[in-house]
Amino acid sequence: MEKKNIDWSSIGFGYMQTDKRFVSNFKNGAWDDGVLTSDANVVISECAGVLQYAQTCFEGLKAYTTEDGHIVTFRPDLNASRMKDSCLRLEMPVYPEDKWIEAVVKVIEANEAYVPPYGSGATLYIRPYMFGSNPVIGVKPADEYQFRIFATPVGPYFKGGAKPITIRVCDFDRAAPHGTGHIKAGLNYAMSLHAIVDAHQNGFDENMYLDAATRTKVEETGGANFIFITKDGKVVTPQSPSILPSITRRSLIYVAKEILGLEVEEREVFFDEVKDFAECGLCGTAAVISPVGKIVDHGNEICMPSGMDQMGPVIQKLYDTLTGIQMGHLEAPEGWIKVIK
Ligand code: PLP
Ligand code: COI
Repeated sequence: MEKKNIDWSSIGFGYMQTDKRFVSNFKNGAWDDGVLTSDANVVISECAGVLQYAQTCFEGLKAYTTEDGHIVTFRPDLNASRMKDSCLRLEMPVYPEDKWIEAVVKVIEANEAYVPPYGSGATLYIRPYMFGSNPVIGVKPADEYQFRIFATPVGPYFKGGAKPITIRVCDFDRAAPHGTGHIKAGLNYAMSLHAIVDAHQNGFDENMYLDAATRTKVEETGGANFIFITKDGKVVTPQSPSILPSITRRSLIYVAKEILGLEVEEREVFFDEVKDFAECGLCGTAAVISPVGKIVDHGNEICMPSGMDQMGPVIQKLYDTLTGIQMGHLEAPEGWIKVIK
């Protein structure tokens, strides 16, 4: 298979149209078989549920070329299951999980020429998503849906890759108690757009959202969960019913405990504690683990002891172990790696 002529190591986190995407339609209470198509455009009613009332959810996972030349993906079963949770919360039909994984595999296979080579720093990002497609004007769920999966090669989510970023405590809330923060609904991201544009205009790379009810506890950023390291080397990560259950975070907790022998606390994290941590990172499929060097709370700067030049030592170990598993040079826990070819 000849790879596309792309300068893999210079691509950022953006969309590049690839050859094939998967499309399946839900009508009269059932999903059709779905097809791979070259048509990257979606044609729907002007009154489609997704356009009027944002009835849509998505997932994000990656395919990697391993050191020995295989193409693999990482824990797709967890993405399938999280998308099921998103669909149920949004009154959308579930796409069966086994078929969901099969469709992801088909999309990776059909776009093999776009899977970045080992060592390039890039990966193939896979974006499954679903939306209400038939006309809806009274506020109610759609009757018809489209499930699609496209793939696009991506580089680092934050410019500069592994260089520590600066974030700010955000005055806007991301998710209400008992709301939709725990699922991957498009609406959660729509409402974060003003906050991120405002953060960028003020010189920050990302927002740290606090819990909406008390504004005392750390939740997450617009697209990643937090990992903190205490001065005595413990891993601490916020637990909250209104954050997205990150697959990267769940994997890192396992890596920390079972592979690196670190102590892990998954618990409420008060913002007041943040100044006492030694390291901070953002974790997610897109972010992998991006180190945070500085957190600014209304002019008050918290500078992580790990500094602005490189990742702290514990986060570096977590990063090396996780990416080592994904890139195939460390043994993966049972069931984590799905080999495509
Ligand atoms: N939090 C939010 C809001 C996200 O959008 C993502 C990305 O998927 C994450 C956390 C990280 O989740 P995961 O590790 O499953 O990609
Ligand atoms: C991902 O990490 O897959 C996400 O969906 C986050 C998004 C902000 C790009």
